[in-house]
Amino acid sequence: MCGIVGYIGNENIKEVLVDGLRELEYRGYDSAGIAVLQDDEIHSYKAVGKLKNLEEKTKNFTPHTLGMGIGHTRWATHGKPTEINAHPHLGEFSYVVHNGIIENYQELKKELQAQGVKFLSQTDTEVIVHLFEQNYKLLKDPMKAFEATVERLQGAYAVLLMTKVDADRIYFAKNGSPMIVGNDQNGDIYFGSSDAALIGKASEVIYLDDGDYGYTSIKEGITLFSDGKEKELNKKALVGDRVSAQKGGFRFFMEKEIYEQSEVLADTVMGRALDEKIAFEELDPNFFDGIEDITICACGTSYNSGLACSYLFERQAKIRTSVEIASEFRYKDPLLNPKTLFVVISQSGETADTLEALKMARDAGLKTLAICNVDNSSIVRISDYTLLTRAGIEKGVASTKAFATQVMVMWMLSLYIAQHKKTMTQEQIKAEIEAIRHIPQAVKVNDKLHEKVKRLSKRYLHGHGFFFIGRDLFYPLALEGALKLKEISYLHAEGYPAGEMKHGPIALADSNLFTIALMPKNIHYDKVKSNVEELSARDATILAISPERFELADDYVHTYYSDHAMSEFFEMMVVTQLLALEISVRLGNDVDMPRNLAKSVTVE
Ligand code: F6R
Repeated sequence: MCGIVGYIGNENIKEVLVDGLRELEYRGYDSAGIAVLQDDEIHSYKAVGKLKNLEEKTKNFTPHTLGMGIGHTRWATHGKPTEINAHPHLGEFSYVVHNGIIENYQELKKELQAQGVKFLSQTDTEVIVHLFEQNYKLLKDPMKAFEATVERLQGAYAVLLMTKVDADRIYFAKNGSPMIVGNDQNGDIYFGSSDAALIGKASEVIYLDDGDYGYTSIKEGITLFSDGKEKELNKKALVGDRVSAQKGGFRFFMEKEIYEQSEVLADTVMGRALDEKIAFEELDPNFFDGIEDITICACGTSYNSGLACSYLFERQAKIRTSVEIASEFRYKDPLLNPKTLFVVISQSGETADTLEALKMARDAGLKTLAICNVDNSSIVRISDYTLLTRAGIEKGVASTKAFATQVMVMWMLSLYIAQHKKTMTQEQIKAEIEAIRHIPQAVKVNDKLHEKVKRLSKRYLHGHGFFFIGRDLFYPLALEGALKLKEISYLHAEGYPAGEMKHGPIALADSNLFTIALMPKNIHYDKVKSNVEELSARDATILAISPERFELADDYVHTYYSDHAMSEFFEMMVVTQLLALEISVRLGNDVDMPRNLAKSVTVE
């Protein structure tokens, strides 16, 4: 996703900015740009594609002496990935870079156009720079103009703005998108949308809060405001060691990635879950014409996300959907119908079995769609269409945020198809979009929950195995919970449909069998409850995860988001991830690099 950097100081500004952007590359982007303000001149460069294209364009530009600059890597949301749409965006005398989405940009754009302002790009961002300049013309004070600008912005944003009318300062504002500002021992100032861009440069940093804004200059340092009042600077030392800093203070990458889910899911839905509809710029309007059914094909966690979403495709989009394990599909001589949409799901985009299955489908003339986290990966290159999941780099071998974002993309896709096929009313779609927008909140890990799971985990270290059980969508979530646990704890764990236990597996039930029961309020609560009662009657040890207290459970994790099945799904997903993590930690295992496993399985 988009990345922001900024710098004021004596170093080579171009190099500092491009270096910072390189640290943010893992977020994914499709164009990049920088603007440098020096001696009252603004030099701006933009390029589509990778940073090397920007470096090529700037090779003859050598900034000298004190100055400042802002830079950006853009992930197209409004408007195609072109140079015009790349940031920084220019007004008459100012430049801006922005992460997030300005939800009221259409309204602001109309107002500005009525005042005679001409727009160059299709982006939402461009309104910020013009609004600032119009405000400046009225107020004649850059700080007041910036304040008035920020007041009008609705949505999520991290913004840096440079202007010739105040050539010593960078103005900044943050709401909903991350932004960090810091300084080094010499007083040089650095900005980044993630601390990765500041490591090795800034020695102390401020993690800005929502609603913060202000300005920085070499002379004045950092001046911070919130709600119109100046705010104290809460500076923190920035860890020098790149790896531990990349873990952002967490013990493991997996833990960091569990906590990151709120932020990355907000990225996943950005520009896609609009007020009234789901929009995928990546798909043609006629994308779905002639499609009769869907086959989803993937491995491991990605298979589990596909299985979960097959329920949504059938229920919401009313389209027959089958889900295949790629390593099986390849060799089963499958009967392929050219009117089937073939969807592959992959975090890495390089999984050999999934890739080969995709080639088979392509060769048989099926339309192919990749749900993938890595742009330009083999799977993305081969597929007709791609929806990137925008999870950012996932380092923990046990996949967490990749799963969450895959489910989110496919939930939106099911609604997109439902819109196309008119299988849901406008009201129903709107209600789903509301639920989608709520998910980043539902997956936020609160300290109490984490502490509770940490304490519980000590009771689940032995025994002869785990059953994760659930029904409907929560059955694939049970599969995923069991997969997470076995990967990093090396304990035997299975996911099962709750109603299937009595057809065999219940024979294993005794007090040393641990059952993790997913008991959502919105889907078949009573049915799961009676399945769990059957297990309890056989003395199985039960950990119930539910918004409803279940008296027969030995342990209970209370969930809160019971207004929508998907909110419950995502909230329970976090609980199962934390449980796996904490059990693994207690067993002294290598959480991030479990034995025998590789992050990307490029062999059969
Ligand atoms: C589990 C896990 C694996 C992958 C599987 C497919 O935590 O990470 O099961 O999901 O190897 O990988 P991708 O999604 O890269 O195709």
